[in-house]
Amino acid sequence: SAVRQYTFDVVMKNTTRLCSSKPIVTVNGQFPGPTLYAREDDTVLVKVVNHVNYNLSIHWHGIRQLRTGWADGPAYITQCPIQTGQSYVYNFTITGQRGTLLWHAHILWLRSTVHGAIVILPKRGVPYPFPKPDDEVVVVLGEWWKSDTEDVINEALKSGLAPNVSDAHTINGHPGPISNCPSQGGFTLPVENGKTYMLRLINAALNEELFFKIAGHELTVVEVDATYVKPFKTDTVLIAPGQTTNVLVSADQKSGIYMVAASPFMDSPIAVDNLTATATLHYSGTLANTGTTLTTPPPQNATPIANNFVNSLRSLNSKKYPALVPQTIDHNLFFTVGLGINPCPTCKAGNGSRAVAAMNNVTFVMPTTALLQAHFFNISGVFTTDFPGNPPHVFNYTGTPPSSLQTTNGTKVFRLAYNSTVQLVLQDTSILAPENHPIHLHGFNFFAIGRGLGNYNPKTDPRNFNLVDPVERNTIGVPAGGWVAIRFRADNPGVWFMHCHLEIHTTWGLKMAFLVDNGKGPNQSLLPPPSDYPKC
Ligand code: C2O
Repeated sequence: SAVRQYTFDVVMKNTTRLCSSKPIVTVNGQFPGPTLYAREDDTVLVKVVNHVNYNLSIHWHGIRQLRTGWADGPAYITQCPIQTGQSYVYNFTITGQRGTLLWHAHILWLRSTVHGAIVILPKRGVPYPFPKPDDEVVVVLGEWWKSDTEDVINEALKSGLAPNVSDAHTINGHPGPISNCPSQGGFTLPVENGKTYMLRLINAALNEELFFKIAGHELTVVEVDATYVKPFKTDTVLIAPGQTTNVLVSADQKSGIYMVAASPFMDSPIAVDNLTATATLHYSGTLANTGTTLTTPPPQNATPIANNFVNSLRSLNSKKYPALVPQTIDHNLFFTVGLGINPCPTCKAGNGSRAVAAMNNVTFVMPTTALLQAHFFNISGVFTTDFPGNPPHVFNYTGTPPSSLQTTNGTKVFRLAYNSTVQLVLQDTSILAPENHPIHLHGFNFFAIGRGLGNYNPKTDPRNFNLVDPVERNTIGVPAGGWVAIRFRADNPGVWFMHCHLEIHTTWGLKMAFLVDNGKGPNQSLLPPPSDYPKC
């Protein structure tokens, strides 16, 4: 194993998209940011230097961070922000993981432009469990706003209403030509007939699940969230913010230019958004003025296509990569995830109220001291350990909402004993509207053992749980008006954030944290913080 050192200089950079320019926050002046390469078992040191007028923190999304929660990154959860002019070295070892993940800013809405890929190669000499591709390409999907994204969210918070949707989606930073800016180019992927390519797809968008398609080419899915899956073929990939998907593409056409499309998915769209980002697959030897073979992206509400994709995912579960699904459960938890409305006297546009979001009716209030710091140094008064394991009142979650839509504010965590096993059902509610919620758990992978529409039935639904080869991941889409069930083992002491990866829902409070106690054995406790740890 090796030590990989990176320096991330966070700087402003004037950037032009959609035929207009604005200064954006970037790492090393790049958008998307630099790819971080490592091998399984390597130690990674990333020195993040803050040269901008925002407080900062960076999260290594999906990295397990075994006993090193200090390097996880969510602001006010595991650290206080790196202030202007300051730096912090994120120091972590990659244990038992290989594949594609992403890094992104984890404060305010800065991740709209501060994000990039993490590529973890298998240990030297260990092959992929599928035929070796001839080449590998990182493909980062994102969103672009013409306005400053901090202005977008601040305006929404002032009004109490939902923020504007983005002005475009992007593929490796580029929307491709669109009607009000036809001259702008898109990302081009050069390919050679007969070769196979592995695309490392990442959804770094703030607020949109995305479909991904390539005209005239089938995709073979081999990995999601840095875990291998049983390979399957599809023409459309569904990928939620925070998720990653590796696909193999055979360049089996003779020549030509083929459209690559990334378009939004929402079960029950509130705001219509049909913006498709395009890129091209360009066969070598094909003249640039050759016409592009087009593909039609699925409609925004193509739920059957989404379900079909999600239902095809299975852990590889081979001898070498077994699916270690907990077969017994110590904590049987049920969390509702959804929206709500709280009073806001200053919210004029919202008529004195504002949209909020909650889990088990708790709207998470960000502390001013990081939870992990408070936990490790025994600072009292920062959080309480009374996060409810079940909804405070039972109602028809996917039917008529309860009469009061008001949520409770609190900085509450759920405490787990070291190595205990957790089954968690996440139930979407139809309060205000049914919505998709890509829920991300920090510090763990979990197994997605069940999924359904309507209200979860604790008597009958567990009979259909897959405890053999469920897909293992770190971010899962809770379907609109439905539920998912996950299981994980609490084998990582520390404080671990769990939240909706639609940034607007996180902002509105759809977040909580698990506090995992130290174990009694050797190597079962949280390590002490590094000396440059940004305290509050
Ligand atoms: Cu990718 Cu808490 O985030």
